Amino acid sequence: MNILLIGSGGREHAFAWKLKQSSLCNNLYIAPGNAGSGLCGVNLPISVTDFDGIAKACITHSIELVLVGPEEPLVKGVYDYFKNNPALQHIAVIGPSKEASQLEGSKAFAKDFMQRHNVPTAAYKEFTADNYEEGVAYLKQHPLPVVLKADGLAAGKGVLICQNTIEALSEFELMIHRSKFGEAGKKVVAEEFLTGIELSVFVLTDGENYLLLPEAKDYKRIGEGDSGLNTGGMGAVSPLPFVNEAFLQKVKEQIIEPTVAGLKKDKLDYKGFIFFGLMNDNGTPKVIEYNCRMGDPETEVVIPRIKNDFVEMLLATANQKLHEITLQTDERSAAAVVAVSGGYPGDYETGKEITGLTEDTLENSLVFHSGTKEENGIVLTNGGRVLVVTSFGDTITEAVEQSNYMLEQLYFENMYARTDIGYEFK
Ligand code: AMP
Ligand code: GLY
Repeated sequence: MNILLIGSGGREHAFAWKLKQSSLCNNLYIAPGNAGSGLCGVNLPISVTDFDGIAKACITHSIELVLVGPEEPLVKGVYDYFKNNPALQHIAVIGPSKEASQLEGSKAFAKDFMQRHNVPTAAYKEFTADNYEEGVAYLKQHPLPVVLKADGLAAGKGVLICQNTIEALSEFELMIHRSKFGEAGKKVVAEEFLTGIELSVFVLTDGENYLLLPEAKDYKRIGEGDSGLNTGGMGAVSPLPFVNEAFLQKVKEQIIEPTVAGLKKDKLDYKGFIFFGLMNDNGTPKVIEYNCRMGDPETEVVIPRIKNDFVEMLLATANQKLHEITLQTDERSAAAVVAVSGGYPGDYETGKEITGLTEDTLENSLVFHSGTKEENGIVLTNGGRVLVVTSFGDTITEAVEQSNYMLEQLYFENMYARTDIGYEFK
């Protein structure tokens, strides 16, 4: 069958790499893709939110399956667009409906969902300009630190961990009365600060059944030892040594199953990935956030560890037959290290030539592209996060060392990567 993948990051290159390995995949198209996905299929110059353009491409290329990578088209309703259009209804779209995507698109929606379905999460209250004074009183008595979250999508910037009440009150005022995070932040979720170790758990669900995928941990800060500004993710590792059967059992029973049952109960149409951002507090899991898609760079360690045919998994999702799939995983450790443009996550330059890509990739390593583009046979940087090297090893340390070594063979001006991914598992 012909498949269209929507997105252009490292996550999408990893998806494209995996889709292409399936005997069920005839032609693979990626909209808009990057120089790496262009090695696995045909890139189409269509933006991820140009639904008319995407629909046209689906008809032209006789697409039968669409996999949506990023959250933006999901939250804007790409699933519903296909479902409500008679010419597109026969196409299976992997990704939740617009309403179900609110699990990521609105923090208030997600918190309300968790509360109603008894999914453990931080205690919270939501505020707008209408109950501003109530919010001020709430923050004045709240233990510290207190977490403030812009309700809507804020490009990963809408979460503030406030260490004192004056800071919390001032940020709260900026969000509600001065649109610090635009419309997205005029509703604020104020919540309890959770302690513990963060991890990411993923499932693929068909709305009835779910398939638990390998867990991962991502490293968000720009600097070594988790210092400096937040980024989209500087590396990821999988599996995690502290995730044992007993902990996973709790995650399934207390978090995943009530979530999947809750989606069904609320009649939320969901055929896609759910990403659970969790806090493990001494063996007790709590949900920090839901995302309605896979994580990036987590996908670059999760997908290579999956041995199953990916298209078969996605078709089982579309046909509500996920109970027929048994996940087979590579037991080795995988580590992804991200190379970024100097200056990221602040200002950075693009258009730098990337060299070393044509050298032989080490056995047990994969090079995924994030922000790259190809021009006249030359690969150029085209974003903050540029390349992701994933390696396998018997231990996390071995995998990270190999990715670090592999990255040394690659070059672009002002390239930067962390060298300490997985440091706490040494
Ligand atoms: P989010 O945008 O929801 O992923 O939040 C960004 C980051 O803020 C998370 O990955 C956590 O590190 C942190 N965070 C969010 N909510 C909480 C919380 N209630 N307690 C502690 N840390 C949090
Ligand atoms: N790595 C975190 C995310 O994809 O949101």
